[in-house]
Amino acid sequence: MMEIGVIGAGTMGSGIAQVAAQSGHTVWLFDTNDAALDKAQTSLKKIMARLVEKGRKNQEEADAIISRVHNTTDYHSFQNSGLVIEAIIENLDIKKKVFSSLESVVSKDCILASNTSSLSIASIAASCDTPERVVGIHFFNPAPLMPLVEIVPAVQTSEEYLQKAKDLIDSWKKVTVVTKDTPGFIVNRVARPFYGEAIRIYEEGIADMATIDWAMKEIGGFRMGPFELMDYIGNDINYTVTEAVWTAFYYDPRYKPSFTQKRMIEAGYLGRKSGRGYYSYAEGATNPEPDKNQVVGEAIVWRILIMLINEAADALHLGVASAEDIDLAMTKGVNYPKGLLKWVDEKGLQNVLDGLDKLYAAYHEERYRASVLLRQKAAFEKKFHP
Ligand SMILES: NC(=O)c1ccc[n+]([C@@H]2O[C@H](COP(=O)([O-])OP(=O)(O)OC[C@H]3O[C@@H](n4cnc5c(N)ncnc54)[C@H](O)[C@@H]3O)[C@@H](O)[C@H]2O)c1
Repeated sequence: MMEIGVIGAGTMGSGIAQVAAQSGHTVWLFDTNDAALDKAQTSLKKIMARLVEKGRKNQEEADAIISRVHNTTDYHSFQNSGLVIEAIIENLDIKKKVFSSLESVVSKDCILASNTSSLSIASIAASCDTPERVVGIHFFNPAPLMPLVEIVPAVQTSEEYLQKAKDLIDSWKKVTVVTKDTPGFIVNRVARPFYGEAIRIYEEGIADMATIDWAMKEIGGFRMGPFELMDYIGNDINYTVTEAVWTAFYYDPRYKPSFTQKRMIEAGYLGRKSGRGYYSYAEGATNPEPDKNQVVGEAIVWRILIMLINEAADALHLGVASAEDIDLAMTKGVNYPKGLLKWVDEKGLQNVLDGLDKLYAAYHEERYRASVLLRQKAAFEKKFHP
């Protein structure tokens, strides 16, 4: 079976190594930091022990998975790998150096992949003499639990390597979607209003955080409210993604970050990990109760939902991915209760368009401009899905 190389033994790299080892591959896990490698190994052992305890794996399987992951600090360990996936610090210059050094040690048909969330695959591929074998393979955190993987061909990627990468990740029992090499790919682009519009509603004093979270869960059917989710992800990480997408879109106001979240980071209120974010996670802390007003709740859900739908429609319009893949990405990558394009079909395209146009008329902000695809489809009474 093909050997797999993983570079970076942090949150993502260690998770990806586990996924590959669970699928039967021998894995070479590389890091420049010995402590990170030790931590990844200890954590894999703990995870396997827990799976055995729960009866999800037997001891033999767990031992086999652990024994398949080898730590290394030498790129030469990758000489027999069919795929090497990079999951190091999000820094283009450092990634480029890693990719160009890799090329001299791997076999000539080894797939070279990056797990980057915000850099373009084209810019990483450009550091290689054989850029046609470079592809984005974007896992979600935690990689062993989140089913979605975005497969991102760069302009340089050949059809053959794209297919090879997709087939391999499919064989790991992941749900793959193919997305254009554009900022945020599918999920981190389409999901922006879930956070941004929720913060905007809060900033305008329409409702407090607890009420917005309540509405999105109880009325919208989302598993977590936006503020709870930002606290879970970490406000620093969530803000960085927003800022990266906004910058990469040449400061399109649709993706503009918010002061509210910036101030949380400056204050050290990062979320669960720091014990305080939008909510307090201290022992015995009391957090505000939502105002369970159905009318307000429905208005909140509608405003955030139509903004999400608008992003999904625009991503489709600009060829980021197919309608099926956009819906799959949001349900499997961020657990949305329904695909956004299926949702708009149910709610009625004209209703959603009217909602967006009303916001635009009220604010005169580019942020609320409706995607032309929504307008065209509504005019011809068409749907997104047959
Ligand atoms: N954390 C997430 O939720 C998430 C989700 C999807 C994608 N990503 C992407 O995955 C990548 C890694 O993110 P992470 O959260 O796992 O980071 P992390 O900080 O947890 O881990 C990064 C690891 O890379 C190592 N490293 C740094 N420079 C290196 C080098 N030159 N060579 C080898 N190892 C090096 C570090 O020692 C560290 O162990 C980033 O590109 C990020 O954008 C992160």
